Amino acid sequence: MQLKDKTIIVTGGASGIGAALCRRFTAEGPAGIVVADTNFEGARAVAAEIDRAIAVRCDVSDPASIAECINTATEQLGPVDLYVSNAGIFDGGDPLEASLDAWSAQWDVNVMAHVHAIRTLLPTMLERGSGYFVITASMAGILSSPGNAVYATTKHAAVGLAEWMSITYHARGVRTSCLAPLGVRTPMLEALGDPEDEGFASLVGEAKRPEDVADMVVHAIGDERCLITTDAQAEDWMRRKAADHERWLSGMRRSAVTLG
Ligand SMILES: NC(=O)c1ccc[n+]([C@@H]2O[C@H](COP(=O)([O-])OP(=O)(O)OC[C@H]3O[C@@H](n4cnc5c(N)ncnc54)[C@H](O)[C@@H]3O)[C@@H](O)[C@H]2O)c1
Repeated sequence: MQLKDKTIIVTGGASGIGAALCRRFTAEGPAGIVVADTNFEGARAVAAEIDRAIAVRCDVSDPASIAECINTATEQLGPVDLYVSNAGIFDGGDPLEASLDAWSAQWDVNVMAHVHAIRTLLPTMLERGSGYFVITASMAGILSSPGNAVYATTKHAAVGLAEWMSITYHARGVRTSCLAPLGVRTPMLEALGDPEDEGFASLVGEAKRPEDVADMVVHAIGDERCLITTDAQAEDWMRRKAADHERWLSGMRRSAVTLG
């Protein structure tokens, strides 16, 4: 999809990857961008930097809030062409320690938020015969997340949903991409560890800049490519997993450490 004259929503747009995406999309000449976040002040600051952008307070764990955000976008900018379901949270840990509240919160934000957006937008996209979802998952959804069962499980669900959407609706004009970064220098990653630390880097690779990830996303949308990886190291680990699952698991067991 070409983004010129398109209406775009980015959730989690106030910070990190979402903010970088908003800034990068503007260079493509869209009709407008909705910067959606629970952090309204942050969303307003990002929207103020770029052309044709509006900030919306949106809590993606609440289906009514997502519907309201989509209504605002449609009324002020036109039907939504691209919905980037990017807001995410990292919490939890070992299943014996993580609270059920942590499971529930991450299930809502990292999985159900995508489902609510799809349920709201897909009927109109199918009528129009075009539309695009980008679901931000993670390499944790393909290669696991040592130390955090909650994040790994919810991100696997996000990858599964994105693939399912691509398989099922591609032929009817609705595209889905799944963004699966390894490590990106954002407040989320920096709260977990120092990207310069060798032990941390062995898990998250050489952390990318959010601007570079945003550039990769724009190219992948242009090519209508489903899986967006950001890291050659992660691609190598994916190949190892596919080639010999048991051997890959042995390697993961050796490198497993508890984050956070
Ligand atoms: N940074 C990384 O290394 C990395 C790696 C893989 C995947 N990801 C994923 O990328 C996405 C963006 O993360 P980031 O690294 O930019 O983090 P970030 O913490 O910088 O930004 C996340 C944004 O999401 C917003 N948010 C959180 N809960 C929300 C909710 N309920 N409703 C609306 N907005 C909400 C936050 O306010 C924040 O602005 C997440 O889905 C994350 O899981 C990040």
